[in-house]
Order: sequence, then C-alpha cells, then structure tokens
Amino acid sequence: MAIFKISVLSAIFATLLVVSAADFGREVDITWGNGRGKILNNGELLTLSLDKSSGSGFQSKNEFLFGKIDMQIKLVPGNSAGTVTTFYLKSPGSTWDEIDFEFLGNLSGDPYILHTNVYTQGKGNKEQQFYLWFDPTANFHTYSILWNPQRIIFSVDGTPIREFKNFESIGVLFPKNQAMRMYASLWNADDWATRGGLVKTDWSKSPFTASYKSLRVEACVWSNGRSSCNSKPSSWFTQEMDSTSQARLRWVQKNYMIYNYCTDGKRFPQGLPRECSMSS
Ligand SMILES: *[C@@H]1O[C@H](CO)[C@@H](O)[C@H](O)[C@H]1NC(C)=O
Repeated sequence: MAIFKISVLSAIFATLLVVSAADFGREVDITWGNGRGKILNNGELLTLSLDKSSGSGFQSKNEFLFGKIDMQIKLVPGNSAGTVTTFYLKSPGSTWDEIDFEFLGNLSGDPYILHTNVYTQGKGNKEQQFYLWFDPTANFHTYSILWNPQRIIFSVDGTPIREFKNFESIGVLFPKNQAMRMYASLWNADDWATRGGLVKTDWSKSPFTASYKSLRVEACVWSNGRSSCNSKPSSWFTQEMDSTSQARLRWVQKNYMIYNYCTDGKRFPQGLPRECSMSS
C-alpha cells in the first residue's frame, strides 16, 4: 500500500487512502537467524524464534527520518525468562540514534518488563521501564513509536507511556539528523534481562516464539539524501499530547512505571540530566 510514501500527493489525498497493514514481505528483510524468522500468511504475520544456537531478527527495507510506526506484537508465552523481544529504530555508525522498545521476559505468571530508551549520537542512559496492564502473551497489542522533530511518543494500544521532548533549547541532544531503520529481534539476554540476570533461560522450553503483525508505517522515507516528505506531511509530523493523552500518560506513569532514570539520583551524582527538571 501507499502508506510507506507520505509524499505531497498522499498528503493531499490522505483522506482517500485506505490505510492498511503493510505486507512484511515487501517492507522488511529477515536479516539473521538462519530460518528462525518466518513471514507467513501472505505477508500478514512474521514470527521470530530463539533456541540455544540463535535468535532471529528483521529490519525495514527503508530508512526513515521521522515517522509514526505501529506494530502489533504477541510476546513469548509461558516461561520466557531470559528472552528479550525488541522493536526499535536505529541509525548506523558509532554516533547512532536509537528509539527502543524492549520486552524482558519472565517466569510463567510473572510480569514482563517493557524497557524504553532513547539514544542520540551514541548516548543513551535515558531508560524508563514499565509493567503492562494486560498479559502481553495472550493476544496481540499495538506498540507505537511517534517520532517527529519536536517529540518522541511511545504508546501501547494508543495509550502514551512516555514522551521524550525536544529540549535542544536547553542543550539536550535530540535525534533528528540521522535516518533510522526499523528493527525487531528475539534473542537471549539471560545475563541481565530477568531480575537483573538472576533467572536464566530454560532451554528445555525452546524454541521461544514471538509474533508480529499489522505493521503500519506513516513516515518520511529517506533515500539518496532526500526525504519523501518534501512538503508539509501528515498530522503525525506536528502531533502533540492533548490533555486526554497527558492524563493517560500520568495514569501509566503513576501505576505502571517501575524505573525512571530521571529519579535515579544515585546514578547521576553530578546531577540529573537536564531534561529531568522540565515538566513533560
Ligand atoms: C519478573 O518477576 C519478578 C517477580 O515478580 C519481578 O520482580 C520482575 O520485575 C519481573 N520482570 C523481569 C523482567 O525481571
């Protein structure tokens, strides 16, 4: 579908576009895992698996400079301790930019952690972690990254869980000069993922499988040094948080946030990062 190209034309005819899920076969490449990643059902579904010898992963064919990307994911069920399932954007090189969703597995019945981070020019250290208000292994749920020049909003089923605003005005780096590709993976991280590495992956339960579907990309495609958004793009490009979104964000942060770098004074003895003193 045309949703990959928000060009002048599609901006003008946006109301005429039937926005539907992208075909994985057309939009992504499975890049590692030696057959452990599979595109199924005519491109509607993509599964990644992990066993003792390898995990697996895929990446978008296109690179983007700003966009709104939605992915439905159903996480590894049962005993997923030690596994990490990801969905993120990243630019290449040693001073890369990155916007992360990582799902840290757990023992059956114990909660997954949704880990988020933002890197600019190779510097991260901006983690926020959350529990979810549902069992993410029972059904597909939508995880979204909205990235425009003013803010990054992480959402779960349309509920914003984190906003990272552009505070360049007070000297905080913001990712906006490097195009990023979308990536997803399933891999073993039992040295740190579950209860800080205490609970190891139980390989007798492998292979572990996570499923992805309904990828939707509305983005400025970057190629040969040019953006497909050559005039004013769609509404996501200037989207802000309205008061309803802000109230929902506060609800999530109050009830489900389990780690926030902005309140971790011990970690930043020289003082918290500057953006932490700004209300968001
Ligand atoms: C796993 O469950 C334990 C016990 O409830 C909890 O402390 C931890 O945050 C959970 N998640 C991960 C990824 O360790």
